[in-house]
Amino acid sequence: MNPLPIRAFAPGRVNLIGEHTDYNGGVCLPFAIELGVIVTAEPSAGPGVDAPALRDDDPFLRGAVAELTAAGVELPGCSLGIVSDLPQGTGLASSAALCVSLVLALCAAAGTEPPPPVELARLCSRIENDYTGARTGLLDQLASLLGQEGQALRLDMRTLEAEPVQVELGGHMLAVLDSGAPRTLAASGYNERRAECRRAAELLGVESLSDAGDPSGLPAPLGRRMRHVLSENARVDAAVGALGARDWAALGKLLDASHASLRDDYEVSVPEVERAVAACHRAGALGARIMGGGFGGSVLALFPPEATPPEAAIGVRPGPGARVLC
Ligand code: GLA
Repeated sequence: MNPLPIRAFAPGRVNLIGEHTDYNGGVCLPFAIELGVIVTAEPSAGPGVDAPALRDDDPFLRGAVAELTAAGVELPGCSLGIVSDLPQGTGLASSAALCVSLVLALCAAAGTEPPPPVELARLCSRIENDYTGARTGLLDQLASLLGQEGQALRLDMRTLEAEPVQVELGGHMLAVLDSGAPRTLAASGYNERRAECRRAAELLGVESLSDAGDPSGLPAPLGRRMRHVLSENARVDAAVGALGARDWAALGKLLDASHASLRDDYEVSVPEVERAVAACHRAGALGARIMGGGFGGSVLALFPPEATPPEAAIGVRPGPGARVLC
């Protein structure tokens, strides 16, 4: 056991653009935000890991302990505390932030270097997939782990290469607005889209939809799903170009086009989300779109300096990634 109490921080994330591309071997453009989860670890007298803030059978805790034990980490007896300023269940990847901070705190408590970021992202994603039943890609975990102040990451999910992209908005503001939609359909809807994409890739004989060229031979709705994936991959690179050129109008249009594609081709929007997008536009947004897994959650919008975002919107900017604080 490391002698000191330990504090490990992991941020939530915003995905600027590139939605539902991570599990399709495509590209996305997330950044870590400044809000996140801190897990503290204090030595305890007895053996085992306890976390009074969580239930004993909490799947994140069980998963983290099981995965680290399987990786050969000898966990000391310790008591974990959790504090978070990241809103939960609003599509800002609070589950990934909890997993990453738990694992970092436990590794530090054991006096073990955590695995390298990609391996650690996979481990955390297994905790979510196998213990909580949420089938996520690697977008959230990689964004939380690799975040850097002032920069988004262009993640190529085929090679898992991360390329930093400067986010300097010239007085513009990115903000998230919670749609308030109940998340009842979120997990099943997300899993259904993943299954549709897997089926489409099988029909086309490709490993992932980003490798395929032409969606026209696919039956409905699989053709539409694939059209979204291909057009969204192209929008990610167009957004990197717009950021570099400081072309905010173009960036706003790309957010709108992403939203239209997620609503019409990928069919992951709901009325509450449409209302939140409309509220952002009324407040003067240059573009707004549904973000994350869909069927609720937050929308992301780009506001010019003269606009006043809706009152409930939270401004977001790229902050540093997950780390042990002391
Ligand atoms: C959720 C998942 C991510 C990703 C997005 C959609 O946030 O956790 O892996 O698939 O949805 O882009």
